[in-house]
Amino acid sequence: MCGIVGYVGNKQAYPILIKGLQRLEYRGYDSAGIAILNGVLNVYKRKGKVSELESFVKSKDVDGRIGIAHTRWATHGEPTDENAHPHSSQSKDLSIIHNGIIENYDVLRNELINRGYEFHSDTDTEVLIYLIEDIKKNEKVDLGEAIRIALNQVVGAYAIVVISKDEPDRLIAAKKGSPLVIGIGDDDFYIASDATPIVEYTKNVVYLDDEEVAYIQKGEKLKIKTIKNKDKTPYVTKLEMNLSQLEKGGFEHFMLKEIYEQPRSIRDSLRGRLNADKGIVSLGGIIDYEQKMVNANRIIIIACGTSWHAGLVGEYLFEDLARTPVEVEYASEFRYRNPVIYEDDIVIAISQSGETADTLAAIELAKSKGATIIGICNVVGSSIARATDAGSYTHAGPEIGVASTKAFTAQVTILCLMALRIAQLKGTLSKSRFRQILYELESIPEKVEKTLQVSKKVIEISEQYQNVRNFLYLGRGYNFPVALEGALKLKEISYIHAEGYPAAEMKHGPIALIDEEMPVVFIAPNRGIYEKVISNIQEVKARKGKVIAIVTEGDESVRKLADHVIEIPETEELLVPLLATIPLQKLSYHIAVMRGCNVDQPRNLAKSVTVE
Ligand code: AGP
Ligand code: GLU
Repeated sequence: MCGIVGYVGNKQAYPILIKGLQRLEYRGYDSAGIAILNGVLNVYKRKGKVSELESFVKSKDVDGRIGIAHTRWATHGEPTDENAHPHSSQSKDLSIIHNGIIENYDVLRNELINRGYEFHSDTDTEVLIYLIEDIKKNEKVDLGEAIRIALNQVVGAYAIVVISKDEPDRLIAAKKGSPLVIGIGDDDFYIASDATPIVEYTKNVVYLDDEEVAYIQKGEKLKIKTIKNKDKTPYVTKLEMNLSQLEKGGFEHFMLKEIYEQPRSIRDSLRGRLNADKGIVSLGGIIDYEQKMVNANRIIIIACGTSWHAGLVGEYLFEDLARTPVEVEYASEFRYRNPVIYEDDIVIAISQSGETADTLAAIELAKSKGATIIGICNVVGSSIARATDAGSYTHAGPEIGVASTKAFTAQVTILCLMALRIAQLKGTLSKSRFRQILYELESIPEKVEKTLQVSKKVIEISEQYQNVRNFLYLGRGYNFPVALEGALKLKEISYIHAEGYPAAEMKHGPIALIDEEMPVVFIAPNRGIYEKVISNIQEVKARKGKVIAIVTEGDESVRKLADHVIEIPETEELLVPLLATIPLQKLSYHIAVMRGCNVDQPRNLAKSVTVE
């Protein structure tokens, strides 16, 4: 995710661009930059928030009626001034802003280096603008054509806007996989990642479709072509939403928006790392440590909160697939209990924010004992990411809602990939079984899409149980961590007490809590020890407990027993957490909204616990 803004017309560009960046800051904010043309192409960019950029350009020349601007959410290259966008071509005549991931950037970069180009940043984006200039020069074509040709060589996702020193009235934009919208003014054009920077100037917008290139020329009609050079008629729609709704993508809360972003965030976390047809799992960030992970006698996973729940799924994955012993530790406990840590231990630190103090401290302790630290973070260049020896980023994009949702499923996705890769190297999985799981993992974003459609039933259940005082969440195997996560979601945003438990543990105490006032959520897919879960459901029903069951679509057995059933698509047992979590996120969201709770900023909580 990041924020893209462009303008060409008769107004001064700078005020429009900087205000646009402020409107988009929720989409990504580790660095920001701006390029404005007024005879000279002035490029200013800084690490940090938009306000830092604003202070930096106070003394600069920002005169000009055409420009582009960007707030970055780094995927390749830490947040630094150099890695901030816009990125300029070698000649400095062209500048680009980009949202997305160029998967084949390293191949393209090496080819360009072999042709004498010298790069100044670590980003994939700089490669793209160099490629465009290389094509423009060698094929002797104009900028628009050079961009179209270049995009046929690119693998990955992009929303780009390019400005040229030699074209004072024209911007070129293109998109695939990342959003881009063009505002049609009276005699000017606005471009942005979403409509929030545009809505105050015009309601007439054109949403670019994938693999489309927009030729935006002041004083002319908008022209659109596909990257295969086919003309497209721009389809103008009228914006209906207000600004606040637009920032949340039309959703009432960031949390709901992020729940619905999960097909994309899982797809982005898999992007360039999984190819089922070729039987490939490749995590570039840990490639130099794969052998250490293969040889490890033990993996210790450290995290807090939801990330700890993802770590618990990771334990089941690594032990089940790669046969590597795993311990999952609350970072806050691990750092103080004088744990035994060996030099050949692999420690996996999981953190959405990458700034959780307890997790950071636990990492430092493990490092001091000589262990190898692998990170799974959602913020590139965050403190935890920088403290680790290696790692893989979840590409979930900014998670604004305090209750973690898309970060959890992205973390589990990365843990799946890691466990599969280590299992492949250790030979603990047959080739056919490995390939089978890869194909199923590839289908997960689509199955998440389908799972998200279960709303009516979830809202009915929320209405019925919005005023209870306690909830129990029960699951077995891979779904025990899901039970914990579902309970945490409910309690942290609705303030209803909720406990997650291994379903079989009911008999050892919690069953005393069961009565007709106690709703019990069972994660009961027709996988794993399904029959045992059915027995647990019967035990609850025998004590008049109300049962809400998450089941595999088409299930008949649980349906006969449960008071409410929510269906999820069939999938591999080890991938059920990626689907079963979704209705639990929605259940907690709707109950919290019905209770009038502040869903995005629940009482007493912070998005990142940077204190002990
Ligand atoms: C989860 O919904 C909470 N926001 C909280 O438990 C969170 O997961 C925990 O504080 C860890 O944060 P991190 O992933 O950024 O380290
Ligand atoms: N991949 C680009 C980078 O890391 C763009 C990231 C974004 O979407 O902000 O700079």
